[in-house]
Amino acid sequence: MKFLTLILAFMSLQLFSAEGGPCGHFLSEDGLEEGKCEEFKADHTDKESLQKGAQIFMNYCYGCHSLKYGRYNRVARDLGIPEDLFQENLMFGDQKMGDLMSIGMDQSEAKDWFGVAPPDLTLETALRGTDWVYTYLISFYEDETRPLGVNNKVYQNVAMPNVLRDIQGLQVSTCKQVPKLAANGGLSQDPLSGEVITEEQCGFLQIEQEGEMTAEEFKESMKNLTNFLSYMSDPIKEERKYIGKFVILYLLIFTVLSYLLYREFKKDVH
Ligand code: HEC
Repeated sequence: MKFLTLILAFMSLQLFSAEGGPCGHFLSEDGLEEGKCEEFKADHTDKESLQKGAQIFMNYCYGCHSLKYGRYNRVARDLGIPEDLFQENLMFGDQKMGDLMSIGMDQSEAKDWFGVAPPDLTLETALRGTDWVYTYLISFYEDETRPLGVNNKVYQNVAMPNVLRDIQGLQVSTCKQVPKLAANGGLSQDPLSGEVITEEQCGFLQIEQEGEMTAEEFKESMKNLTNFLSYMSDPIKEERKYIGKFVILYLLIFTVLSYLLYREFKKDVH
């Protein structure tokens, strides 16, 4: 009974913690769904994607967010990056390959600057899911009412500055005309002309001025970044799958052997 109450409590937490949906005010391209995340499925076997993701992370995120449950040499090994290259291009200061990836940003100082300390991101995708993290990363937009001039569709009034502005460009939240839905869920049409009636809807994300990357390239690189974060939160996923196959094989062989043994014993009984 206690267990059931606990499950129910968790379920209601899940339901009420989200405003509108898990992805806040993120609007689908057709404007029909608000709060639904864009989908992104991680692939830890795609080494190239993980390497690119690591590169973006170390250059754009590591100044504020640590990955303190991971070690440099482990990441270099898993991603297939030679240690000297890793050290030269992805590490700063006098850190050693065997060190934990906990950079030295003073937590209380960070709190003074942003109001909230940037959280450690080692387990972020395990906490939020890859869909959420990916959608969050593509959802920063210009908002002059905010102290840093930026807001996020997924995480309303976020305290994180838009560090992706240079590569993504200037993204804004705009309004556009969308087909109006009739009461039966279909499109409403003008009874005389038969034309589809449209109405204005706001909250769409649009890149007004391109950055260093095209919109497509930017999304691709945010997928790589999310893939890398997903790897960080579960670095032995591939190893587990690999070992899992042998475990199943072992169990199958064991089953056959025990069956044969059972037949031998049975002979003695009769
Ligand atoms: C200048 C410092 C800074 C940089 C650089 C930065 N962030 Fe953040 N980030 C923050 C702060 C501060 C927060 C906390 C925001 C809040 O809770 O309102 C945050 C929050 C987040 C969150 C949400 C955490 C959660 O679940 O509450 C994610 C995910 C995130 N950052 C990812 C990134 C990624 C990926 C990068 C690199 C592209 C990055 N950040 C670069 C300061 C930074």
